[in-house]
Amino acid sequence: MVDLSVTLSGVKLDNPIIPASGTFGFGYEFADWYDINVLGSISLKGTTKEPRFGNPTPRIAEIPSGLLNSVGLQNPGVDDVIEKEIPRLEKCFSKPLIANISGFSVEDYVYCAEKFDKVSQVGILEINISCPNVHGGGMSFGTSAKAAALVTSAVKKAVKKPVYIKLTPNVTDIAEIARAVEEAGADGISLINTPLGMRIDISRRKPILSNKTGGMSGPCVLPLALRMVFQAYEAVKIPIIGMGGISSANDVIEMMLAGASAVQVGAANLVDPCACRNIIEELPASCEKYGIKKISEITGGAHNG
Ligand code: SIN
Repeated sequence: MVDLSVTLSGVKLDNPIIPASGTFGFGYEFADWYDINVLGSISLKGTTKEPRFGNPTPRIAEIPSGLLNSVGLQNPGVDDVIEKEIPRLEKCFSKPLIANISGFSVEDYVYCAEKFDKVSQVGILEINISCPNVHGGGMSFGTSAKAAALVTSAVKKAVKKPVYIKLTPNVTDIAEIARAVEEAGADGISLINTPLGMRIDISRRKPILSNKTGGMSGPCVLPLALRMVFQAYEAVKIPIIGMGGISSANDVIEMMLAGASAVQVGAANLVDPCACRNIIEELPASCEKYGIKKISEITGGAHNG
């Protein structure tokens, strides 16, 4: 039998499959489709200090082999997430959660991180410094090594739980940013968030998205994600949660060989609500095919040559 278990900074997961933030709501919505306890963990919808309505519509557009989103961090705010959403999820999911936090200032990140740090079912804090769809925060922290380090060290000082920093692909040198957050105390990193893209409505001669630009996700970004996880793995020693375009068990193996200790599955959930469950069910046979007995042992396996 294949051992699918992995460990992220002391948090043990039964398998490496985690639905990505923003593609799985607060998790309980998917319990009507399948028993979500088969998942390794869940990265919750990105949460901010105050409730947010998000960007005006249209905020989704199709692209070849994927989609473009500019949701703009719609969420009910940290207090509602802790008081209403997590208790709802706890009724159908009993494993450690990943709280995904966004902000517009260092203080915002610290404020939410301190609150989630006190929630017993939260195992890991994922600090999103990479949202491409908001102004004056989000990705602006993730495109500067100095700003990324500032957020990381401020959050680390304020909390006890492991802190993972979610990085943007919209940079020239991912290794520099990864090293900066590791040096600032990050326990791990997760990447990639979405690369910036655009579509134009030909008849209106205008960008389709009301925000003009959006983040690309889906199978089209898998090669980009693999390249960046591979480069980050060579730059840092802390664990990596790899994501970007994963939609099959073979994609999971590929991402782990690039350097990921666990993976997040995003856009695939929007195509098929059962995508994560299907990948978990396919994974043992795919591992057996490639002679993998313990999946945690393949992390970084493509760096041998
Ligand atoms: C969004 O809400 O705009 C997407 C979140 C993200 O890409 O970080």
